[in-house]
Amino acid sequence: RLAAARVGNWLLSARGDELARMESSRNRLDPYPHYARLRSQGGLYRSSIGIWVATSYQHCHDVLRDRRFGVQAAAGPTPRAFERFMRERETGDVPSFLELDPPEHTRLRKLARPAFGPAKIKGYRALVEKATMDLLDRAQAKGRFDLISDFAGPLPIRVISDLLGIPDANTTRFLHIGQIVGQSLDGVRSVRQFHALRAAETELDQMFRKLVEHKRIEPGDDVITHLTHACDNGEMTIEELLATCGLLLIAGFETTVNLIGNGTLALLDNPAQWAALKENPDLAVGAAEETLRYDPPVQATVRVAHQDLDFAGKPVGRNEPVLVVLGSAGRDPQAFDNPDVFDITRIHERDHLAFSGGIHFCLGAPLARLEGEVALRALAERLPHLASAAPPERRASGIRGLTRFPVTTGRK
Ligand code: HEM
Repeated sequence: RLAAARVGNWLLSARGDELARMESSRNRLDPYPHYARLRSQGGLYRSSIGIWVATSYQHCHDVLRDRRFGVQAAAGPTPRAFERFMRERETGDVPSFLELDPPEHTRLRKLARPAFGPAKIKGYRALVEKATMDLLDRAQAKGRFDLISDFAGPLPIRVISDLLGIPDANTTRFLHIGQIVGQSLDGVRSVRQFHALRAAETELDQMFRKLVEHKRIEPGDDVITHLTHACDNGEMTIEELLATCGLLLIAGFETTVNLIGNGTLALLDNPAQWAALKENPDLAVGAAEETLRYDPPVQATVRVAHQDLDFAGKPVGRNEPVLVVLGSAGRDPQAFDNPDVFDITRIHERDHLAFSGGIHFCLGAPLARLEGEVALRALAERLPHLASAAPPERRASGIRGLTRFPVTTGRK
């Protein structure tokens, strides 16, 4: 519940009964056959607890772009069935802009946006490549390594720490705390974990506050310095700044790791695709993109109807939530030819929805794409004999990814 202040919909998306069913151990391994069954019920249906579930590409696409839906509850009564669901959204903390509707969403997103502009992203390439090479040097020296904890995990953490302007001395502590908060995406399962999470969130806020003080004295060309200026100019409050930093940190920690992990797994599971990438490493752009369609890290998000409305012929009532199953949209045969085939040369017939759509479209998408491309290219170029050394272990949450993936670098 606490972490919802930082990660909002991603955590909440794990609340729908349908998602809970998707997370049964069989479905967790491979939720896609279950999605296909759900799509056969018409693409948008009311589940047994009354929550709406959008599973077809078109319905997911349309909900995300329809401004009659938002991420916050509208003023006025909430249907009884959803009172608890809605209360869980209210943590008492200042929400990040991921969980805000306009006009606050517009104002805060605009302040964070410059960090992800095309020129900035171009400038990050050298940093991403250097971090990738450093990590692979170490992994290669080991011969057998964990693709997640030795490579896919640390890479985006290094990049986001640098981007935010977190000094090296702090990175280890940030990393530890960020991981505790990030792991709460898998659900808070014990009182102990709950307290650890609360302590971590408090410490994270204190660290960011100290960093803001530091940036006032020693400004840099980094996100926290820019947000500190915005704060000092009265464009955002310090609480809003802290929520933005927390969102960027967790988004940076917990998503791209799974793009790299899921992509590597799909490539090793499909030897012809892996061979094609090794043959032509420029296909890394397509490999990252195809992974996002085929096995996206964020499987679902939630929207709330702001008024009684007729949506695709269905009566959706005010403040009724709709679970938007992004992972299902990417496998919809109405939108993609042979959707269950992983094909890195595929020219996407249309945009996948792995980064959502509409006004909440992932702000970090260009950075995630860059990291995914550089990482998959480097694996193909530097570790052509990469092979699975043991079955990977899956995360247990609405975030789809691996906790462990032992691999070997194979013969030299
Ligand atoms: C929003 C996915 C990487 C920053 C989102 C949303 C999705 C998403 C699905 C929208 C959720 C919704 O509509 O309710 C992903 C995936 C990533 C990734 C799959 C990696 C493969 C990143 C990175 C950053 C980032 C690296 C930044 C460091 C954000 C921010 C938002 C967001 C700030 C909020 C946008 C808004 O509400 O206007 N992401 N993300 N993401 N993401 Fe990402």
